[in-house]
Amino acid sequence: MDSRRLQLLQRMGVDVWVRRSGGAHADSGEEPAENPVAGPVEPSAPAAEAPVAVTATADAVAAPMPSDATTSTGIGAMDWDVLAESVAGCTRCPLCESRTRTVFGVGRRDADILVVGEAPGAEEDRQGEPFVGRAGQLLDNMLRALGYGRDRVFIANMLKCRPPRNRDPDPQEVEACRPYLARQIELVQPAVILAVGRIAAQNLLGDERPLRMLRRQVHTLQTHAIPVVVSYHPAYLLRSPADKAKAWEDLKRLRELVHARSGGGGTE
Ligand code: URA
Repeated sequence: MDSRRLQLLQRMGVDVWVRRSGGAHADSGEEPAENPVAGPVEPSAPAAEAPVAVTATADAVAAPMPSDATTSTGIGAMDWDVLAESVAGCTRCPLCESRTRTVFGVGRRDADILVVGEAPGAEEDRQGEPFVGRAGQLLDNMLRALGYGRDRVFIANMLKCRPPRNRDPDPQEVEACRPYLARQIELVQPAVILAVGRIAAQNLLGDERPLRMLRRQVHTLQTHAIPVVVSYHPAYLLRSPADKAKAWEDLKRLRELVHARSGGGGTE
């Protein structure tokens, strides 16, 4: 691991074990194995908790993002500019009455990685950009540690408007907003989607199992044939830093998938 990545991980609060020179792989040209857990938590975790390897594509679970999520609304025919305008003026659910700004999403329109979060918070609602608060800084650091700056990915949310007091989105709001995300997925055509947090993962995948279960496997969005990696929400990681090590494992799995599907392309 290079020293910049090591520094980023340390800034994220992830303790990294770096193999000493002279170890078994010291001259092998392999990236040194790293164990970002500074304690016995991971080794003693029950085997059933361990996520499956990404290479086991046969284990991928098909998830039903509805293929017609965009067609009945006309959203499926929109290009980027029309889609952005449509989101900006959206009145498809009552959240339009309480929002300050819509939060369309940001990043590269041909990104290999599409990050899907839950919904804008207070700061995002003010600025009109996703993940700009402390959680966003952590997300940025995690992505940078992976080799992908914010400008190399596309970041969007299930909901484009902030639910009052940051409450969980209700199902009608999710369904009203779903066609926008579905169209963003179609337009970006990412190699891999990263769903952060329970709300994003459950709603994207149409799977109500808890996050710890959803993290265990690589899913596939049925209609788009795109793998989905599920990980913790960065706001949760700020509260539970011990789980950053597991999040790092998820991100490494994501990176393997991106490399397998697109040949990589990450830059710091
Ligand atoms: N949390 C999210 O899920 N998305 C944001 O944009 C900000 C916080």
